[in-house]
Amino acid sequence: MTYLEVTIFTIICNIAMTYAFNCSSNSSCLCVNTPSGLIADCSGLGLTKVPLFTDRVISVNLSKNCLTTLPPEGSLPSKLKYLDLSINMIRNFSTDGTLPFSTTKHMLSLNLSYNMILLDRDTYFDGIFRNLRQLQHLDVSYNSLGNRSYYCPDEVFQELQSLQRLHIDAVLNVSFGKGFLALRQLTHLKLTGLATRITIPNNYFLHLPNLISLDMSAQWDTQGLFTGLEHIESGTFRRLAHLEILDISYNRKLGLCGFTNVTHDLPFTSIKIFKAQYLACERGGSTLLFNNDIKPLLNTNIEELYIDGNNLDKTEARITLFIPKSLRYISATDNRWIVGPYSYYDMLMNLTNIKKIDLSFQNRHQMSQSVNSWKCDHIESVAEIGCLCKRYPYKVNTHHLTFKPDLPFNQKSKLDNANHSATLHSCVPYFYPSFQLVIVPPNIEEIKMESARVGYSIPPLYISTSAVKTLILRNNQLYSFIGPMCNFTNLQFLDLSGNKATDISSYVFGALPSLRHLALDNNILGNSKIFFTVDSKHLFENQTNLAFLNISSNSISILFQDLLLRSTYLKHIYLDHNLLVDWNVTIEHMKNLEILDISWNQILYLSPNGMQLLDNSFTTNVSINMLNNPLHCSCDSVTFFEWIQKHSKHFLHFKNYTCSYKGDIYEINTATMRLKKDCASYIEVVVLSVILIITFIAVVCTLLVYRFRWKLRYLYYVMKGAYGYHRLETEDHYQFDAFVSYADSDRHFPKDEMVDYLERQRNFRLCIHHRDFIAGCGIAENITNAIHNSRKVVCVLSEDFLKSEWCMYEFNIALIERTVARQGQNMIIMLRLGRVNMKNITTEIMYILKEDTYIEYPENEEDRRIFWEDFAESLDS
Ligand SMILES: *[C@@H]1O[C@H](CO)[C@@H](O)[C@H](O)[C@H]1NC(C)=O
Ligand SMILES: *[C@@H]1O[C@H](CO)[C@@H](O)[C@H](O)[C@H]1NC(C)=O
Ligand SMILES: *[C@@H]1O[C@H](CO)[C@@H](O)[C@H](O)[C@H]1NC(C)=O
Ligand SMILES: *[C@@H]1O[C@H](CO)[C@@H](O)[C@H](O)[C@H]1NC(C)=O
Ligand SMILES: *[C@@H]1O[C@H](CO)[C@@H](O)[C@H](O)[C@H]1NC(C)=O
Ligand SMILES: *[C@@H]1O[C@H](CO)[C@@H](O)[C@H](O)[C@H]1NC(C)=O
Ligand SMILES: *[C@@H]1O[C@H](CO)[C@@H](O)[C@H](O)[C@H]1NC(C)=O
Ligand SMILES: *[C@@H]1O[C@H](CO)[C@@H](O)[C@H](O)[C@H]1NC(C)=O
Ligand SMILES: *[C@@H]1O[C@H](CO)[C@@H](O)[C@H](O)[C@H]1NC(C)=O
Ligand SMILES: *[C@@H]1O[C@H](CO)[C@@H](O)[C@H](O)[C@H]1NC(C)=O
Repeated sequence: MTYLEVTIFTIICNIAMTYAFNCSSNSSCLCVNTPSGLIADCSGLGLTKVPLFTDRVISVNLSKNCLTTLPPEGSLPSKLKYLDLSINMIRNFSTDGTLPFSTTKHMLSLNLSYNMILLDRDTYFDGIFRNLRQLQHLDVSYNSLGNRSYYCPDEVFQELQSLQRLHIDAVLNVSFGKGFLALRQLTHLKLTGLATRITIPNNYFLHLPNLISLDMSAQWDTQGLFTGLEHIESGTFRRLAHLEILDISYNRKLGLCGFTNVTHDLPFTSIKIFKAQYLACERGGSTLLFNNDIKPLLNTNIEELYIDGNNLDKTEARITLFIPKSLRYISATDNRWIVGPYSYYDMLMNLTNIKKIDLSFQNRHQMSQSVNSWKCDHIESVAEIGCLCKRYPYKVNTHHLTFKPDLPFNQKSKLDNANHSATLHSCVPYFYPSFQLVIVPPNIEEIKMESARVGYSIPPLYISTSAVKTLILRNNQLYSFIGPMCNFTNLQFLDLSGNKATDISSYVFGALPSLRHLALDNNILGNSKIFFTVDSKHLFENQTNLAFLNISSNSISILFQDLLLRSTYLKHIYLDHNLLVDWNVTIEHMKNLEILDISWNQILYLSPNGMQLLDNSFTTNVSINMLNNPLHCSCDSVTFFEWIQKHSKHFLHFKNYTCSYKGDIYEINTATMRLKKDCASYIEVVVLSVILIITFIAVVCTLLVYRFRWKLRYLYYVMKGAYGYHRLETEDHYQFDAFVSYADSDRHFPKDEMVDYLERQRNFRLCIHHRDFIAGCGIAENITNAIHNSRKVVCVLSEDFLKSEWCMYEFNIALIERTVARQGQNMIIMLRLGRVNMKNITTEIMYILKEDTYIEYPENEEDRRIFWEDFAESLDS
């Protein structure tokens, strides 16, 4: 940002209330009211004439218009302090020789960059700045880019007595003459147009001794012109005793020889920030950094050093010895460092001020497709080699130049268990034979190494200081996160995203209790075994302070319920772009939870358990993103859709959720309505079918039971009886010779006559229910058992027999006994007593009358003797 922008920005930020206001004759201009006055923004309106402004306007922005002259005298408000005329087509300060800005003498800032005001004596005639004695900031950069000879008229510039900041083109032959000595306040100088200049001579800043900040970077070089400075003579900055900020970046032909020229001048300055980025061609050869290149820095109090994009490959051994203690930040991105023995513990230990280091983007030149990379030609490569030779410090004995450490790397950087067992066990209780010791400056807080092709894995490691708060290792090639990472007790921010890691251990974060921000996205951790076991609950076990967790894009399909049980303070959880089919993690304990992102997963609908788990967290104002899941409308998911509709305020982009139903895509509210309707009739159909089926089965069962009622009864009682008395299968082991079945009204016959003739005279054992039934048993049971235990069954057939239920029961049981237990053997004796109407006789009885024995009780006394003989015979057979 320019000074002007910064100032105005500050003004705007300092006021509590701003509102649109009419401040100019053109209503298209935007007006902002601030306590110090009005700000008018007329930028980008295509104006060819300057509008009028009210008196209270203190800042006018006319940038990006089509003005060809400065605003006419008197058209600008008299209290104007800030004027932006950048990006117009102004060619001249004045066409009639009058001095400009005569009515705006209080101007503090004037921006004329990107116009066509050439830096020569004709345009910059005497007195043009006479009315700008209070001007502090002048920008006339990007006006004179042409390759012609200019002259910067110092006698004109010297009238800007209050000038503090100057942005100016330093094209060919432009120099800062004696007049600049008068500008005692001038401390900030930014040079543009260096493309046409080849060398900065060592007396270039002779008349600018008060400079504090000097920007000579060729940042315009976005087209890869590679035309910046080629030389900065040694001694150029020696006279700038107050210089604190120096930027020589993007002069791609300068090379490390130019860099070395500059570093040797820096001890004579007050340097704090030195930027020397991209001093080489992107696809140029690799180069070496010698101790001599940075050695002079030891005599400075430099705080920030930027040496990005210099194709640095190796450094001379012990180079860390020459890094000044005052250094706080090093940025050395986009080089070609390879992990190597550059540093030793004892050397880094003295760098107590380094707080941040950035080593990102290493080795990008390999296979680079950057357009710029082709621009460096052969000549530049030759120059690079020439520069390497010039800097090469050992002319006689090349053995001094060693890139090998005195001690093998491993010996110093492995911590052996024997000597450190106490410390090691304070980390996590896992035993490892050795830890990798990572040596870093003792107070370093931030280490950034993204896209640096750091490969292999995260081994069990110890860092030499617990001061580290931020560690960024995203987009590397760490394929497994094993750990544990020890001594990182203050680590708050860890980024391991984009590593395509497939493996993670349960204890890799076990010793990171302070972690607040953890990014693991864009790995393939879903393939790691741990996510399929309950061990996954240990993964974040010690992250009790975690507020941000990103595990998106990891092919995760399963999450266990207790995964985040201990991370009570989580605010943001990102699990998008995975393969989850349901929600399965307890989150109700996270009172600060704001965002849960499960978009782009494979969720068709949530299970009751999933809904319950989310439901519990709705006491907070959490927002859940479920966009782009293949939500599925069906009668199974209707409860889910009702639920999500009820809680729609907790779902981000709820209006955009859709589900497919019968080939069409619906939004949730419509879908739920349709589903409720369609599924209600569906349920009716189901209920009806179930009732029908049950009825059918019941009917069939009833029919079957009815059909086999006798057999079932028989079997039931026989089975029941089988537990007690057990009949032997052989003949004559029946308990009774005959069971007598009779109607109650006929009872005198069996009770008197049969007992008399058959039992008393012939020793038969009869079963007569009035006499022989066991008390306490059910009648049905008694009958069945008695029949089962009798060799024959005698049915005393009479009209009453046919009417009696019990007699029919006895008959039917006997029939079953006959077919089931006696193989159809003749065992039923039908004895007719008196008259029987043939119409009342059932088919079963008729069948037995034909098949088995049928005798009649004679009516006259004489025949009865023979009858009993026959009867006794039938019983015996
Ligand atoms: C003037 O407007 C341009 C374009 O909108 C903007 O880039 C510039 O920062 C503005 N200048 C100031 C001083 O606000
Ligand atoms: C305010 O706006 C009106 C048109 O809306 C314009 O006529 C007038 O000139 C403006 N005021 C000033 C002070 O420019
Ligand atoms: C205001 O600016 C617009 C360009 O945005 C221009 O077309 C118009 O003529 C101007 N109005 C006046 C009154 O100058
Ligand atoms: C600028 O104006 C001066 C004074 O009128 C004149 O002499 C000079 O030629 C002009 N320059 C250009 C480039 O128009
Ligand atoms: C370094 O300084 C020497 C001596 O002033 C000069 O000849 C040489 O061109 C400079 N080199 C670069 C690359 O600027
Ligand atoms: C580190 O500093 C101490 C004293 O501050 C000094 O004795 C020691 O030599 C230094 N070590 C290195 C490697 O510079
Ligand atoms: C762990 O960190 C502490 C404090 O920063 C440090 O003193 C100690 O040496 C470190 N442990 C190891 C094994 O480097
Ligand atoms: C968490 O920390 C405790 C105490 O330091 C430790 O016993 C435990 O093993 C750690 N958990 C994991 C998973 O490493
Ligand atoms: C849900 O978690 C339980 C244990 O907490 C686990 O057994 C089950 O497999 C998980 N289900 C899914 C779909 O992740
Ligand atoms: C939601 O849908 C609207 C309209 O279809 C679209 O404009 C908007 O970008 C969508 N929002 C998201 C987050 O996809």
